Amino acid sequence: MLKGLNLTVVVTGGIAAYKVPDFVRTLIKAGANVRVALTPSAKQFVTPFTFEVLTKYPPLVEDVQSPDTVAHIALADWTDYAIVVPATANTMAKFVNGIADNEALSMMLALDSPLLFVPAMNEKMWANPATKRNVDQLRLDGHTVVEPDTGFLAEGYEGKGRMPAPEAIFQSLLAFITINKQAKTLDLTGYRLLVSAGGTTEKLDPVRFLTNRSSGKMGLAIANVALLAGGQVTLVRTENAKNLPVLPGIEVVTVKSAQELYDKMHAHVTDKDIVIMSAAVSDYRSANPVNQKMKKDQLSNQDGLSIQLTENPDILASLPKAGHYMVGFAAETQNVIEYGRNKLVKKGVDMIVANDVSDQTIGFNADDNQVTLITKDSERTLEKQSKIGVAVEMLAHIQDNISKSKK
Ligand code: CTP
Repeated sequence: MLKGLNLTVVVTGGIAAYKVPDFVRTLIKAGANVRVALTPSAKQFVTPFTFEVLTKYPPLVEDVQSPDTVAHIALADWTDYAIVVPATANTMAKFVNGIADNEALSMMLALDSPLLFVPAMNEKMWANPATKRNVDQLRLDGHTVVEPDTGFLAEGYEGKGRMPAPEAIFQSLLAFITINKQAKTLDLTGYRLLVSAGGTTEKLDPVRFLTNRSSGKMGLAIANVALLAGGQVTLVRTENAKNLPVLPGIEVVTVKSAQELYDKMHAHVTDKDIVIMSAAVSDYRSANPVNQKMKKDQLSNQDGLSIQLTENPDILASLPKAGHYMVGFAAETQNVIEYGRNKLVKKGVDMIVANDVSDQTIGFNADDNQVTLITKDSERTLEKQSKIGVAVEMLAHIQDNISKSKK
């Protein structure tokens, strides 16, 4: 996904800097050309030589002869996308005020490509009104700022300020690049979204359950992109999607069964502007789930084992429709568009995202997807692309439809 892109990683002086060389390796493995700039205090946590070995290019630092004549300008011109990780309160404060008293800041000031900040600091520094003001200003100036994570801080206690997990930073970067490439106008500031993701499981006994092949990747991509585009996101994910990276700042609720998903979707739907039901719901559950393991010799006869199933509620159809833009998915193996159109009417939604799950390279568990966005008066088939790409185009289409309906 990053193949051929010129990415600049700016490292500033926070303890989380020790994790950045590994992150740089991930970017290189994903096909990016990577260069690094370090602030003077970043060098106390990690050495320029580490990055030189990894990237095969000397990082931009003070007082070191660079192969380029005006090194900070040459790096700014070379950059397609830049990420500041970790971003300290100090560097954000300086940058927002146009201060360029080191090489890294000078390069940042000369950039005309998109800039992503990944702040990491003590929780009191993050909560300080000055930091909040600076972060707000960075966003107003058109930059993207990821929320820090909550967890164990270097100070030895829990708090909000941790650098997000490397996989979450990687997802943020992918979403950030895709938004900038595909839909520069995607802006969900002020929108509240409810997104469901994953596949439900229905208990048969303590060791067995019914489920489906949904991984949750599509729903997670939607939630992460929506957050990065400025939205306020609640994600109801299933247990089997728990290992996929979620960006800090998303409200997360975890469920197992269709009934739990039903309850949580109804509990959270009220104040939402956009509701996207991408979870694959088991249509049936066991009529008699048991609390002890079922034993073969007590259950089966020569005709095999029969399990009585009872139908689950249709969550999407049951959700209140007024006041939100509602989106459902239709995973089909044949007559994809026709079945998708039927579901648009049957479920009473504004959009159905239809995809062909008989193709193993798209749909369930794949990293790519190809979908058709079906509304009452339009049908748009998107190119086959990453699920993040699909999420960006889909959210941009929803944003367009909402603003048209307001005119
Ligand atoms: N859905 C739901 N509750 C269910 C079943 C499905 O909310 N009990 C939602 C899914 O999340 C999806 C949409 O309805 O957004 C379509 O789901 P799908 O499984 O494709 O369709 P079904 O309604 O189950 O119909 P069928 O299995 O006959 O295709």
